[in-house]
Amino acid sequence: MSALWAVIPAAGRGRRSARRAPKQFCELHGRRLLDWSVGALFGAVQLRACVIALPEEYVSGNGLADNSLAGDERPGNSQGNLQGSSRDIRYCAGGKTRADSVAAGLNALDAAPGDWVLVHDAARPCVPREDIQRLVAGVREAGVGGLLAQPLADTLKRGDRAGRVQSTLDRSFLWRAQTPQMFPVEALRRALARALGDGLRVTDEAAAMERAGHPVQLIEGSAANLKVTYPEDFALAEFWLRRQGRMAGAAGAPTAAP
Ligand code: CTP
Ligand code: MG
Repeated sequence: MSALWAVIPAAGRGRRSARRAPKQFCELHGRRLLDWSVGALFGAVQLRACVIALPEEYVSGNGLADNSLAGDERPGNSQGNLQGSSRDIRYCAGGKTRADSVAAGLNALDAAPGDWVLVHDAARPCVPREDIQRLVAGVREAGVGGLLAQPLADTLKRGDRAGRVQSTLDRSFLWRAQTPQMFPVEALRRALARALGDGLRVTDEAAAMERAGHPVQLIEGSAANLKVTYPEDFALAEFWLRRQGRMAGAAGAPTAAP
């Protein structure tokens, strides 16, 4: 039976967030963004293992250079895991771009032919469990890879260099890409390697797969799944986590697991 794996790109510097540490290591309600993101995946679906791509200096061999980073996502801690089994979490060094980090994560998987992978940004801690489950079910039903995305709500303008409006664009059929994105491991590995080899700037997995000629299914996601990018996004993410009632698993909460 084919297995489902996860790769979490968490090797960015978080420059736009203007924090001292990379944003994925900053805390929301006492728990690191990265831990929320990894926990969301394990809490929603049965994963064979999850590879986290970290900034190079955080990794030694295939372990962590600094154990405090493991947080509450250490293997063997089943907190928040619906299946109650232990979590297999591995680490690798990421790369220069997000695509390089994802490629490094994919290479660290010992996946079998026919296995699939969920790629999820460490910077999206609030992804709802139902969205992940809808993605997995939608991809299985479509029989092709896919991603969570949201139909565009705003009116779109094309501007010129001087900031003058040139035209108003038709926004029907336009979507904002989110993660997780789910694809067959082997096909994604090849598509990413090809895009990187061609020097292309691919900002998500779907772009590499589209370019390689694979059909990609859009599965509707929700606004809660924001990507923490700017300083004000931390408070927004805390709002969504509180609203989702996920606080029970956070460090310092009365019901936190040991
Ligand atoms: N990422 C990565 N490796 C990189 C760059 C980004 O693994 N070389 C990861 C980030 O850690 C994040 C996700 O890709 O989880 C989405 O990227 P983004 O939001 O752009 O994060 P950063 O690149 O860290 O932020 P910024 O662009 O503001 O520096
Ligand atoms: Mg970036």
